[in-house]
Amino acid sequence: MIKMKKLLLTILSIFLLGACSSNQSSNNNDSSKTSSSNDESIITGESNTLVAYFSVTNHTETLAKFAQEHLECDLFEIVPTQEYTSEDIDYNSDCRANKEQNDETARPQIKNKIEDMSKYDTIVLGYPIWWAQAPKIMYTFIESYDFTNKTILPFCTSGSSPIGSSATNLAKSAPKANWLEGKRFAAGTNEETFNSWLDENIKKDTNNMNLYIDNQKVDVTWEDNDSVKELKTILPLSINMHEYGGFEQTGSIGKSITRHDIQLDVVPGDVVLYSGNQISVFYNASSWSYTKLDHINLSNNELNSLLNKDSVLFELKA
Ligand SMILES: Cc1cc2nc3c(=O)[nH]c(=O)nc-3n(C[C@H](O)[C@H](O)[C@H](O)COP(=O)(O)O)c2cc1C
Repeated sequence: MIKMKKLLLTILSIFLLGACSSNQSSNNNDSSKTSSSNDESIITGESNTLVAYFSVTNHTETLAKFAQEHLECDLFEIVPTQEYTSEDIDYNSDCRANKEQNDETARPQIKNKIEDMSKYDTIVLGYPIWWAQAPKIMYTFIESYDFTNKTILPFCTSGSSPIGSSATNLAKSAPKANWLEGKRFAAGTNEETFNSWLDENIKKDTNNMNLYIDNQKVDVTWEDNDSVKELKTILPLSINMHEYGGFEQTGSIGKSITRHDIQLDVVPGDVVLYSGNQISVFYNASSWSYTKLDHINLSNNELNSLLNKDSVLFELKA
């Protein structure tokens, strides 16, 4: 208990120092959402990307809105059923926020809801740091939806604390998502800085799976399906493949992933999921029930010299 208090005091002094030395525009006691009453969630347009955020004093909200404009995507504000008043976030007192952060089981209720989470592939997730962690309402949010195979890019704002373990702890509540490395931003971070971080991470993610055969990077066109998305969540993947039937190299993933098999006439260069737990790469035509993953953009001659041998090392890396 004494240790816990010491830790909290250290964190408090670090972020108080940060708050004083940075040019934060507000303090918790005078700018909470209760005074702005801007607490409705906003959903706009059709998009595969969602920016979802929680913010009481608007620092995180400002960045979330930069993201929404820049990515031209949907925006969702996580609105607490019971709004946080200035007293609720007065961390020098025994306030509601402090009590929640100290309570493993606290899951503050959320007033609003995303009707169709299944349409999003990528979620940019913003929150403030509260005692070095994500506010407990973020756990309520993460536990309310199925994030399987979705990519989550977390960001946070704080007085000075880093993102630390806040995102990796949240990730434990949605282990089947592909969590990218998050970043902490100071209040008042400018639009250009924030957007260029988004570009690096969102772009990197959409092209983030590279195929190597015997250490040679090959150009591929990925299918847009759940199996490919799931493969991205288990990178890096290395498979020792062996030749089979005079038309393919094949090997086991070591686990089963989502499959949507259909009867396929495969052509040289096609890469498919077989039986949910094996990958096959073709250098000659064949026909069977598979889920197509991608196509290697090489000529038949190039494919033949790359694949027509006893075995190959097949690797998928970010
Ligand atoms: C209860 C509470 C705990 C906080 N704990 C920390 C902390 O551990 N480290 C830190 O740097 N800032 C801490 N802060 C400051 C907030 O992280 C910071 O002001 C943040 O930008 C607020 O985001 P918002 O305006 O989107 O609500 C805390 C604020 C509150 C209300």
